[in-house]
Amino acid sequence: MTALASTQLFSYAPDGVNPKKVPHKTTYTGGKIPSIGLGTFGSDRIAGEQIATAVVGAASVGYRHFDCAAVYGNEQLIGDSLRSIVEGGVPREELWITSKLWNDKHAEEDVIPAFEKSLQDLRLDYLDLYLIHWPFPNYHAPGCDVTSRSPDAKPYIHENFMKTWRKLEKLLAMGLVRHIGTSNMTIPKLRLLLRDARTKPACNEMELHPHFQQPELLQFVLENGIVPIGFSPIGSPARPDRDRTASDTVDIEDPVIVKVAERLNVHPAVICIKWAVQRGQIPIPFSINRRNYLSNLRAVTTDPLTEQEMDAIARIDRNCRLIKGDVFLWKENQTWEDLWDLKGEITTP
Ligand SMILES: NC(=O)c1ccc[n+]([C@@H]2O[C@H](COP(=O)([O-])OP(=O)(O)OC[C@H]3O[C@@H](n4cnc5c(N)ncnc54)[C@H](OP(=O)(O)O)[C@@H]3O)[C@@H](O)[C@H]2O)c1
Repeated sequence: MTALASTQLFSYAPDGVNPKKVPHKTTYTGGKIPSIGLGTFGSDRIAGEQIATAVVGAASVGYRHFDCAAVYGNEQLIGDSLRSIVEGGVPREELWITSKLWNDKHAEEDVIPAFEKSLQDLRLDYLDLYLIHWPFPNYHAPGCDVTSRSPDAKPYIHENFMKTWRKLEKLLAMGLVRHIGTSNMTIPKLRLLLRDARTKPACNEMELHPHFQQPELLQFVLENGIVPIGFSPIGSPARPDRDRTASDTVDIEDPVIVKVAERLNVHPAVICIKWAVQRGQIPIPFSINRRNYLSNLRAVTTDPLTEQEMDAIARIDRNCRLIKGDVFLWKENQTWEDLWDLKGEITTP
């Protein structure tokens, strides 16, 4: 094992939450996924070491679900953390570890090696969930500007996506991953995948927070027996500059959220987490701050919001997508809306 800072050593925290008290959701394949996970994307500003330390700290207070991705550039460091957690006494089967295939690895010959790299970096012999991170095979350099475009960028081409999906199905057959799924999909794209998949997705990761509730997509996913995982559940207050526009709204400043937070004497972020779990999606909040990740975990094991509070939050949806994805556009003069099939049909070249 590589040398770990003492802060990264796993131990059961006396003020933590018993992981057995954290609710689970069951995938259609019978997998049990904890109803909250820790996000690990440092928004291009938080060092991998700090995130790896938070992973051990979060496990020490009771987290068992971690949302990773090759593109976050920290899987090797998180691998050390996971090793420390397992060596510290948490059985591997209690953990739920997700990783994602990055956009420059969609080619048939690249999928399995990319998966194996994540598996090796995370120091595991299987993953619980492997997602196709975006339905576009388009690369952009880490930290790039919002106007950056790759000359090789392509639109969604279903037959190509299915070739990538077949490789995920192969990983399942090889026993290297327990569940496969999608991320950043739309209803028209999911319809095609459900039509053509041999194994349908177990989970779909999608942006979900009070100001971006995606009711139609959420309902579609639930009706099709797919577990919704909600990213940026707090409204990603520290997201990269490329993901900010002047019209973005701020969930944790919304008067409805603030009022409930005042009633419970917690940070508004905690209300976003409570709302998410109670609504039926699995939030994966990012935090490197022990007080914050512990309050987010406690949020899911304490009294629920009232029906009136849930109704009031349902009414503050602003349809405000934060992670718009401009850098994945494939030609000039497009807008980010072209990525999201807003007219109910897949945007073609
Ligand atoms: N599939 C995809 O394409 C995709 C896209 C985006 C994100 N994700 C995943 O989703 C995860 C979460 O999304 P995100 O990182 O964009 O944003 P987020 O979870 O909505 O927000 C994280 C921010 O909220 C703060 N925070 C967390 N808990 C808090 C609390 N209780 N009180 C006050 N502040 C709190 C954190 O600061 P502190 O660190 O100071 O607590 C951090 O700055 C990512 O890390 C990643 O794993 C996936």
